Amino acid sequence: MRDEIILAIESSCDETAAAIVKNGREVLSNVVSTQIAIHQKFGGVVPEVASRKHMEYINVVIDEALKQADLTLDEVTAVAVTYGPGLVGALLVGVAAAKALAFGAGKPLIGVHHIEGHIYGNFLANPELEMPLLCLVVSGGHTNIVLIKEHGEYVSLGQTRDDAVGEAFDKVARAMGLSYPGGPLIDKLAKEGNAKNLSLPRAWLEEGSYDFSFSGLKSAVLNYLNRQKLMNQEIVVADVAAAFQEAVIDVLVTKTMKAAEEYKIDRILLAGGVAANSGLRQALSEACAKAGKEVHFPPLKYCTDNAAMIGAAAYYKAIRGEYADLSLNAVANLPFSEII
Ligand code: KG4
Ligand code: ZN
Repeated sequence: MRDEIILAIESSCDETAAAIVKNGREVLSNVVSTQIAIHQKFGGVVPEVASRKHMEYINVVIDEALKQADLTLDEVTAVAVTYGPGLVGALLVGVAAAKALAFGAGKPLIGVHHIEGHIYGNFLANPELEMPLLCLVVSGGHTNIVLIKEHGEYVSLGQTRDDAVGEAFDKVARAMGLSYPGGPLIDKLAKEGNAKNLSLPRAWLEEGSYDFSFSGLKSAVLNYLNRQKLMNQEIVVADVAAAFQEAVIDVLVTKTMKAAEEYKIDRILLAGGVAANSGLRQALSEACAKAGKEVHFPPLKYCTDNAAMIGAAAYYKAIRGEYADLSLNAVANLPFSEII
């Protein structure tokens, strides 16, 4: 079989990224230009600003990815791109660039679902992973428990009904006066705080449901902060961070382990930006050790948005012959079912 050398592009939120991935596992280059510093002064991602910055950087990151891999566009076998979900103006920049390159160089085009990309971040570090797997996808835009039966065969067992978990981290951090993105800062602060100093709710939802809800928890933190301020009481941000993070992790880990038990899955994956959270990694590792299950996390660079994970997912689409045509468009709310 010929080598599949995929040029992958990712621009769904605030990272402009390009990578070259060989046969779905070997990362020849992985270039990420993050806009975090730009959005920090607004306290979150400003979609219009994100699109403009993607336009400025997209060709630069693509050229750099080819250069670092020491390849020309001619040597690439396909061009892959995230086409959803995400910010539509941001996605469009990547999709337009991928289509132009595929058309100009006469290469096949592959459209990748962003969540599928996050899942495949795991395969870059653990090429030997075997199905079936259960993946907890936790990012700024998504919270899903996904049953992976085979490459390309997924069932979403549960998702958030309101805020994504990363979104809840960022909103709570903002209310505590921390900068964007708040997830890593809460993670750090939580290590110094005492979660027992305040009691926060957990939304378990109906018996047997693998769905999540984080808006009640977020509101509880905001109410607590307002109350303390009104009463001129001290706010120990480390304690708030620890209690919030503990409440989030409690629900994520309990539901993931329940799903693993019900569906008899022995290998569990974490994916998405919040998979970088040290408390979540530790709690899931402990729960898996107790239940006699394997757990895998992508290295930090493949947790947050990057194009190498898109190239890994695209490889399996290429070998299944799932190519897109030039009518491929950005889809902001691309449903999970569209992965299949
Ligand atoms: O996957 P990602 O880069 O973008 C989306 O697809 O959404 O995830 C970004 C999210 C942000 O909400 C950020 O605060 C969160 O991941 N995040 C973390 C940590 N590192 C990143 N959340 C908690 N703990 C972390 N260490
Ligand atoms: Zn993401």
